Amino acid sequence: MRRTEAAEAAATEAELVGAVAHDGSADPFPVRGVDHVRFYVGNARQAAHYYSTAFGMTCVAYRGPEQGYPDHAEYVLVAGSARFVLAGAVHAGAEAAVHHARHGDGIVDIALEVPDVDAGYSYARKQGAPGLVEPHSETDGYGTVRLAAIATYGETRHTLVDRSQYTGGFLPGFVAHPPIVDRGPAIAAGLQPRRFFQAIDHIVGNVELGTMDSWVEFYRRVMGFTNMAEFVGDDIATDYSALMSKVVANGTRRVKFPLNEPAAGRRRSQIDEYLQFYGGPGAQHVALATADILGTVDAMRAAGVEFLDTPDPYYDSAELRARIGAVRVPIEELKRRRILVDRDSDGYLLQIFTRPAQDRPTVFFELIERHGSRGFGKGNFKALFEAIEREQALRGNL
Ligand SMILES: [Fe+2]
Repeated sequence: MRRTEAAEAAATEAELVGAVAHDGSADPFPVRGVDHVRFYVGNARQAAHYYSTAFGMTCVAYRGPEQGYPDHAEYVLVAGSARFVLAGAVHAGAEAAVHHARHGDGIVDIALEVPDVDAGYSYARKQGAPGLVEPHSETDGYGTVRLAAIATYGETRHTLVDRSQYTGGFLPGFVAHPPIVDRGPAIAAGLQPRRFFQAIDHIVGNVELGTMDSWVEFYRRVMGFTNMAEFVGDDIATDYSALMSKVVANGTRRVKFPLNEPAAGRRRSQIDEYLQFYGGPGAQHVALATADILGTVDAMRAAGVEFLDTPDPYYDSAELRARIGAVRVPIEELKRRRILVDRDSDGYLLQIFTRPAQDRPTVFFELIERHGSRGFGKGNFKALFEAIEREQALRGNL
């Protein structure tokens, strides 16, 4: 755990998420970053406890019936700049109840921080994005937040947020909430990192067969996002299933959205499994940037988080060792924790994936520690998919 402080000091958030310098003055739809990720869950109170204990996040705000919002209980948790909102229905008629019945726990909103909500919304609408919420202000004693929302794949939305005139904890209506667990003693004893992760690196969307390119085009047209070089097709097919993937990103690459669609394989693709169990397109995984993936994986495992297993041959392969070269720890340290490693011309990255975070085989998380690489671990896709397929087979869905 000793690395964490030094590593956090050395690695700026921009480096952690692979951001680049970018002159945004000509952007038609400037985006500063992901403001928050909103989940609808079956039990927000218990989910808030899970993300506090197992993901080391800190609860900072709450809104519910006590504040005059009769439909939902909403908990705001943070780790560095990463912010999750966990919302659950308080009664059967609430929006989250209906959504949860169809989709299970899932991501309903990838909210984007923008400098000008009205300009962004108006541009998006002109470019054909479906509008869900017109620009409006919400105000309380801490100031005013400007908000609007457009629709993206499935029942997912992008709320546009300008909080530059607001000093409160989250949004008007929310009140401060104390941390749910006190991690202080564990941090002081060196048993847990101060933060398990510092930022959101990327959020992946699963879309239906034949629609990936139109979603890539959607983000280009509506937000001016560009296609990053990394894309995958047949080369990541395994014996059983396959997917196609392309990545769109904003100018600074702080916001990166890989988009997957199923591809033909001998057996059912993991993307098909997701689409069936989620009930349509949706966010597949959130990648969380950490400066110390070893310490974070140790702490999360100790808290009961399950990660995908990677078989020994992955680490023992001479080809892998030659391709990877020297990384910051001996490969045995990675092998012991089942952390994957990939290298490209810019550097390398370490990554690991959790098992699905809820009962349905849908949303999961990735931890990523970047050392120069701006990729997504393409070299690991085959090993990763084989691990996912072993689990799919156990579920009877392969
Ligand atoms: Fe990823």
